[in-house]
Amino acid sequence: MSPLIITIDGPAASGKSTVAQRVAQALNSTFLDTGAMYRAVTLLAMNTQTDLSDEQALIRLVEANQFNFTPAGQRLVVLINRQDVTEQLRNPEVTANIRYVAEAPGIRILMVRQQRALALKYQRVVTEGRDQGTVAFPDAQVKIFLTADPEERAKRRQIELKAAGIQQDLDTLLKAVEARDLSDRQRTVGPLQPADDAVHLDSTNLTLDEVVQAILKIVEKKIG
Ligand code: DC
Repeated sequence: MSPLIITIDGPAASGKSTVAQRVAQALNSTFLDTGAMYRAVTLLAMNTQTDLSDEQALIRLVEANQFNFTPAGQRLVVLINRQDVTEQLRNPEVTANIRYVAEAPGIRILMVRQQRALALKYQRVVTEGRDQGTVAFPDAQVKIFLTADPEERAKRRQIELKAAGIQQDLDTLLKAVEARDLSDRQRTVGPLQPADDAVHLDSTNLTLDEVVQAILKIVEKKIG
């Protein structure tokens, strides 16, 4: 039987992760945070002083090291050479450097391969990212494109970072969100764009619960 796949794509800090976790929970499915994969490669490249703008060096790095991605409830646990790096993946320094890795076509091919393998293994998957409905899973049964205004997303990121003990002012965060939007939209491979058959949902004025309920309704309508 082919896996049941629900994709949630959208820009940075649109609430995809939390929403996808909740939807996965409600549907008894596995949550897949694909941003964590790009973050893991970025972290290792930074820790090994690999030239981030050298795609071949990044590919050699991925091939020479052992990455292990395991969905575990609300997150993707990431081991690099058996060391758990999950807690380090959301550091602002990693976020600031991620575009090099996300823009490298050869790395994207390797990451998409991992994502498909995980979907096959877990069979019922709610996966979130930028290219899940367009590149990784073009045949997904349900595709959501989740957006929110940049100002609202910067505010949400600030709250999220504060909870993790990191203080950042709103203006800096807004600039970072806008820079990431630009880089996400402009890359030639796997850019941030809605799949033709994606349902668009703007969460600017919706609560988390409202977004989750809206998605569950869409799922019910599509697949019963
Ligand atoms: O969702 P996130 O903030 O953890 O994603 C981090 C970065 O990873 C994001 O700026 C773009 C990249 N990414 C991607 O290119 N493709 C994905 N499927 C997921 C994330």
